[in-house]
Amino acid sequence: MALKIAFLLFFIISIVLPTRNAFEICSTDDSDLSIVHIYGKCSPFALPHKQETWFDTVVKMANEDPGRVAYLSTLIGQKSKTSVPVASGHQVLNTGNYVVRAKLGTPGQLMYMVLDTSNDGTWVPCSGCTGCPTTLFLPANSSTFGSMDCKMPQCTQVKGLSCPTSDSSPCLFNQSYGGDSSFAATLSQDSLRLALDVVPNYAFGCINAVSGGAVPPQGLLGLGRGPMSLLSQSRSLYSGVFSYCLPSFKSYYFSGSLKLGPTGQPTKIKTTLLLRKPHRPSLYYVNLTGITVGKVLVPIAPELLAFDPNTGAGTIIDSGTVITRFVEPIYSVVRDEFRKQIGRTISSLGAFDTCFIAKNEAIAPTITLHFTEMDLKLPMENTLIHSSAGSLACLSMAAAPSNVNSVLNIIANLQQQNLRILFDVANSRLGIARELCN
Ligand SMILES: *[C@@H]1O[C@H](CO)[C@@H](O)[C@H](O)[C@H]1NC(C)=O
Ligand SMILES: *[C@@H]1O[C@H](CO)[C@@H](O)[C@H](O)[C@H]1NC(C)=O
Ligand SMILES: *[C@@H]1O[C@H](CO)[C@@H](O)[C@H](O)[C@H]1NC(C)=O
Repeated sequence: MALKIAFLLFFIISIVLPTRNAFEICSTDDSDLSIVHIYGKCSPFALPHKQETWFDTVVKMANEDPGRVAYLSTLIGQKSKTSVPVASGHQVLNTGNYVVRAKLGTPGQLMYMVLDTSNDGTWVPCSGCTGCPTTLFLPANSSTFGSMDCKMPQCTQVKGLSCPTSDSSPCLFNQSYGGDSSFAATLSQDSLRLALDVVPNYAFGCINAVSGGAVPPQGLLGLGRGPMSLLSQSRSLYSGVFSYCLPSFKSYYFSGSLKLGPTGQPTKIKTTLLLRKPHRPSLYYVNLTGITVGKVLVPIAPELLAFDPNTGAGTIIDSGTVITRFVEPIYSVVRDEFRKQIGRTISSLGAFDTCFIAKNEAIAPTITLHFTEMDLKLPMENTLIHSSAGSLACLSMAAAPSNVNSVLNIIANLQQQNLRILFDVANSRLGIARELCN
């Protein structure tokens, strides 16, 4: 009898506990700045079709990378060879991978905004918007909202400006985002609340119209470092420092964190120099100097890695690309060396061209990325992705899409999971430390 009760208790506890934990982890605590995957269970955008495996979701998302790469390439002034088609369906969510809870206005209106390290501005769909998804910011309900006009200095910093004169008409602009979409917005200001912090008079774009569709559903928080970015507008609060830890793809139930400002940042962290392209300051360039596969430093011509402030060639860290993309000649040598060391039959699956039988996984070589003064030895979970059935393991990297004339190497979010990435813009350093984000 006692045994039966004990079993019953164990059974009840094992059912109840995970549910309770999950509930606690999907924090609605206002002091918390958790980052959740846009399709993770704590996200309001979690996919309804539960039968889809996580691997299939990742493959679908990685299929949107070419659009992202084309977009990043246009940011540095490169034209894509052909326009990249925009997929239908849930594409609207695919332009960003991680969301964070923010409140805009007084009283604060909750928005799950996409984090984007390669964008400066912040923009939010506003009431009356045509073509926007359903969650809209209501300026009329905020006592601190104000729209900005053409003669305000911030207006001249907005890209895609269509201010007629330097008069007091509203500061209107039209920008493209992602593959083929664009939006029209009015530069506005209001209080932005992030955890317990308030950034008063925060300038952002209030979206009036979207065409093409691929705009993050509840807006975007630009974590770049240009003049209109969160960092620039909160200099006195955060001193140009933030870090994030992106949750593991395997435990998408859980969430990572965004830490703004110098307080609470890791003190023991290896760092490398942040480089900047003068006319495009937002992108976070680092100096990738070499790549080691296992014990082999693969031969890469230095000019393929070199940062060129004129063309924008070089390596960036990005929060919006799913799998790391190297320009074709670099990817080929990395992949070929990886395949050689695996020494087994290779197949391809979705976006991944180097898959092998997962039970041979122990022979997979470690990939180390070398940066000026910092090495990043990628953990296996940031190197391999497993097929739905678990039978195949694939190298989770790819070449830059062939229809985009890209000169950029992009360190993407699958390679950043369970790492704290510190952006110390004030000191032009980028730090990386191992951390369990969940
Ligand atoms: C916004 O204001 C309108 C009009 O005052 C009101 O009816 C509505 O409930 C408010 N909505 C929110 C979300 O506060
Ligand atoms: C932005 O401008 C382009 C080019 O003029 C136009 O085709 C597009 O429809 C505009 N977007 C919006 C949302 O108004
Ligand atoms: C990047 O590293 C290479 C190799 O150490 C070095 O020659 C080059 O000057 C560095 N580039 C920058 C911009 O620091």
